[in-house]
Amino acid sequence: MTFVVTENCIQCKYTDCVEVCPVDCFYEGPNFLVIHPDECIDCALCEPECPAEAIFSEDELPKGQEQFIEINAELAEEWPNIAEKKDPLPDAEAWDGKSGKIDKLER
Ligand code: SF4
Ligand code: F3S
Repeated sequence: MTFVVTENCIQCKYTDCVEVCPVDCFYEGPNFLVIHPDECIDCALCEPECPAEAIFSEDELPKGQEQFIEINAELAEEWPNIAEKKDPLPDAEAWDGKSGKIDKLER
């Protein structure tokens, strides 16, 4: 089991999630964060911290977000670790809640 970062993180990247993770298993891309599925210990601490409500347990993913299981696993192997909070992306508020952000995912 793991927690998964889903679509609404894209273009927002608030990073509140990384501050609470006891095992530092978040990895950072240009406009999205992912969780390493083999490192996550399912503590659930990050889920309520995300202002964009983008984090879910893999067995409670909203409909249409299933592809993010694979996306998290893949990109966590490629991207650098992030363990400290930083400023969100400049237009985070405007992008929060927008649909179709998957097309904006930068790898
Ligand atoms: Fe880290 Fe816990 Fe969130 Fe997994 S569930 S990413 S271990 S804070
Ligand atoms: Fe993304 Fe939410 Fe973390 S927007 S960076 S999953 S706090």
